[in-house]
Amino acid sequence: MATRGKNKANIEAVGGKKLTPATQMMGHGYDPFLSEGALKPPIFLTSTFAFESAAAGKRFFEHITGKRQGPADGLVYSRFNGPNQEIVEDRLALWDGADDALVFSSGMSAIATLMLALVGQNDVVVHSGPLYAATETLIARILSRFGVGFVDFPAGATREQIDDVLTRAQALADEKGGKVALVYLESPANPTNALVDVEAVRGARDAAFPGDHKPAIAIDNTFLGPLWQQPLKQGAELVVYSLTKYAGGHSDLVAGGVAGDQRLIDIIRPMRNTIGTICDPNTAWMLLRSLETLELRMSRAGENALKVCTFLRDHPKVEGLGYLGFIADPRQQDIFDRHCSGAGSTFSLFIKGGEEESFRFLDALKIAKLAVSLGGTETLASHPAAMTHLSVPDERKKALGITDNLVRISIGIEDADDLIADFAQALDAV
Ligand SMILES: Cc1ncc(COP(=O)(O)O)c(C=O)c1O
Repeated sequence: MATRGKNKANIEAVGGKKLTPATQMMGHGYDPFLSEGALKPPIFLTSTFAFESAAAGKRFFEHITGKRQGPADGLVYSRFNGPNQEIVEDRLALWDGADDALVFSSGMSAIATLMLALVGQNDVVVHSGPLYAATETLIARILSRFGVGFVDFPAGATREQIDDVLTRAQALADEKGGKVALVYLESPANPTNALVDVEAVRGARDAAFPGDHKPAIAIDNTFLGPLWQQPLKQGAELVVYSLTKYAGGHSDLVAGGVAGDQRLIDIIRPMRNTIGTICDPNTAWMLLRSLETLELRMSRAGENALKVCTFLRDHPKVEGLGYLGFIADPRQQDIFDRHCSGAGSTFSLFIKGGEEESFRFLDALKIAKLAVSLGGTETLASHPAAMTHLSVPDERKKALGITDNLVRISIGIEDADDLIADFAQALDAV
């Protein structure tokens, strides 16, 4: 918490009107008069912080080492925290209505720190599928070295299927002599846009674990969050972000975030302190700049995506679209209606043909850049089967619907008609 009780800048309501995060992004967590009146926070480039007294230093360390709960009421050392990172954390938590948040050096370091903090030797992770390929690698190939097992279920699974998966996970945990430690979701999933029923997962988790030990429910909210989906409202306890994407929003930084219940954040923070996965002050400052325009950027990108997908939907060279604005499956539509307030701007385009036709389309694009990643101001296009998911075995790719004719597109904030002209000429080249 950047303010430590001294900050007068945290205005939560005006004249009885509760402020929205879009307004709070301009001031929350920062008092200019603690920094010579600087309207924007300076970047605090320091590796360590001076204590006013030895007793204060001891008290701050009691927080760092977990002897006292909650964030420290003073700064100690930049591997643990710093003013720029604390202001971002305060602001990030607002979007999801979270108790608290943590920032990290990348989305993957956020996910790895979360898992190292919550999962022990011989425990079991239950996860939805598909997951971002590096997250699948982390669970299946790295945590498994420490005896961790996993059981996965398809994103659209029903309550009954999730009940069954949790029963199987408990049996595996009993066999290993560990516990079911974590339910880890990604929704919409990368790259298929398949949605997970978080409400059903929460119901199943609570029914399967009525006692004191309940595996935490964490969800990667990178594709729709924090504007179009706030899964803490559907019963998740932690949301995870690659802040590299929509939150950073300009394809010029790499960062990650976790927001959620204080009890869980207080378990993850000491792990971050130990392994040093916090983001640097300069990146935190850039994230502050980015969060000020988050609603504007995401809204425009969402409007653009609807226009572009409306054009693509009826094009003779398009086989189909994986766009959340045009869902065909009633189960997926039901989840969307209960969980999401917007269809996002990242979608799958299925070109008629295979890899050759898809590559021809990608190579012909002029405005859209051929690059992986998403959520930036510029439109990006990539080929998951040959790029981000190249390491995924063919059988699994097939099961997950990651086909050779799938092109993933992230729409930016350019003029929608210019983008449509670009897609039209690139499809002509196929
Ligand atoms: C859904 C999702 N989660 C996590 C990550 C990893 O984030 P980062 O690249 O910031 O480590 C990505 C990256 O593409 C992603 O798409």
